[in-house]
Parts: sequence; structure tokens; C-alpha cells
Amino acid sequence: MDVNVTEKFITDGARMIADVWDKEYRGGRYAGESPVGFAGEVLAELARRPEIQHSRGLYVGCGNGRNYLKLAGADLDVIGLDVSAAGLEQIASKEPSLAHKLVQCDFLNYDNGMFGYIVAIQSFQHGDAARTAEYFRRAAAMLDAGGLLFVRVNAADTDVGHPHRITERSGGGFTVLYEGGPKSGLHVHFFSRGELEAAVTGSGLRMTRPPRMVTTKRPGGAPGSWSQWEMVAAREG
Ligand SMILES: C[S@@+](CC[C@H](N)C(=O)[O-])C[C@H]1O[C@@H](n2cnc3c(N)ncnc32)[C@H](O)[C@@H]1O
Repeated sequence: MDVNVTEKFITDGARMIADVWDKEYRGGRYAGESPVGFAGEVLAELARRPEIQHSRGLYVGCGNGRNYLKLAGADLDVIGLDVSAAGLEQIASKEPSLAHKLVQCDFLNYDNGMFGYIVAIQSFQHGDAARTAEYFRRAAAMLDAGGLLFVRVNAADTDVGHPHRITERSGGGFTVLYEGGPKSGLHVHFFSRGELEAAVTGSGLRMTRPPRMVTTKRPGGAPGSWSQWEMVAAREG
């Protein structure tokens, strides 16, 4: 498999993330699932901004391609970055022509120049408040002037499923450590609106589409719901 694996960059902080998601993808997670609506909105926004659309992009946490394949299939020149080798291998076997664009690396250790846009769909929530805030600072530092950041992350309004304990509360948001279920052992952050806005503006970005909450009922009649923020920000030009 010709995936650009830089295993040495999977540091301790990201090892647990990689292990959990490797297991999930090998177990069939997202197989056959449609892209989320936000991926279509990324394409629509880029179509309005041809100079950014034709620049080099980065998808952080491309997983096994549910959304990444939609973007790359629309002729975007977009690198797919993930800590999960299993996810990247599934993308490469579905679309071998994309293998050279796939990189296994923790985003916090990734250093490969500047990008016109960065997409992060359900990846910037992996870790505690400090780690997840750092994702926004890193993204801002990698964006060209005027470049766009597209983010979908967990919202604090979620009814968290699976056994867990809350390990910290921060500005209306909170971090959980899962103690059961598929993410057992993982720290995951749930953002309040204010916290998300502070992460964006504190990184020197300007919100161009304020956070909008999207709530999904748990499948199969399970109780509770799961909420995500979707937002777009720009680096000042
Ligand atoms: C919830 S899955 C979403 C995958 C994909 N974005 C989608 O929507 O189908 C989160 C993905 O982000 C990846 N990820 C989380 N933290 C990461 C990091 N620091 N660097 C690279 N990938 C990361 C995980 O390995 C996982 O594949």
C-alpha cells in the first residue's frame, strides 16, 4: 500500500486515537455512509472562491474517506492526513490514485508548508481543552493569508452516550474520558459556542460563518442526541 506513512510522528498523545480509530475502521465504521452535508458546503464555498479552490488543501482526520473522497473527487488538490493507518489504507484501496496524497501523522506534528484551506470534520475534538485549542492555533499558522478553515466539532449540548467521566470543564465546554464503548480510553472534547469562538479568534482567525449547531438523534431508537458545531473562519488577508 503506497500510503505516505510517517509512523515516527505518531506520538504518545496520538497513539490512543490511532488505536481506537484503527479498530473502528477495521470493524466497518462509516463503510457505505454518505458524506455529511457540511462536505457539500465546503465544496460550495470553495466554488465561490476559485483562487482558494485551486490552491493546495489539507483535510485533517480524513478517516476512511467518507467525506475526503467527496472533496478529492471534486478535483480538489487535497492532502488526507490521519493518525489511523487502517483508515488511510481503506481510502487507498478504494481510490489508488489518491494514495500519494495520504499521510499518516498527528496534525500537531505535521509540518508541510502552507495551505489555501484546511478542513477538519470531527477531528478537532480529540483530546482535552488544551490539545483541542492547539489544533486551531496550528491550523491558523498553516493557512495562507485569506485562507479558509472549515470545522465541524462536538458541541457541549450533546447527550454523551457510552460510559464516561467528565475530566474537566472549560468555558462552558467539557472533556470526557470514555470508560466503555468503542472510544474507551479516549479523551474527547465537547465545545461551547463561546469556547469555539475564543479558539478561532485567539488563533488570529476571523469567523466568516458563525457556528451553527446540527443535532442528530441517535440511530436505532437509542435515547439522546448528538450535536455538532459547523463553522468557517478565515485568516486575515
Ligand atoms: C470521527 S472520525 C471522522 C473521520 C472523517 N473526518 C469523517 O467524517 O468520516 C475522526 C478522525 O480524525 C482522526 N484524528 C483525530 N485526531 C487527529 C490528529 N491529531 N491528527 C490526525 N488525525 C486525527 C482520527 O484518527 C479519525 O480518523
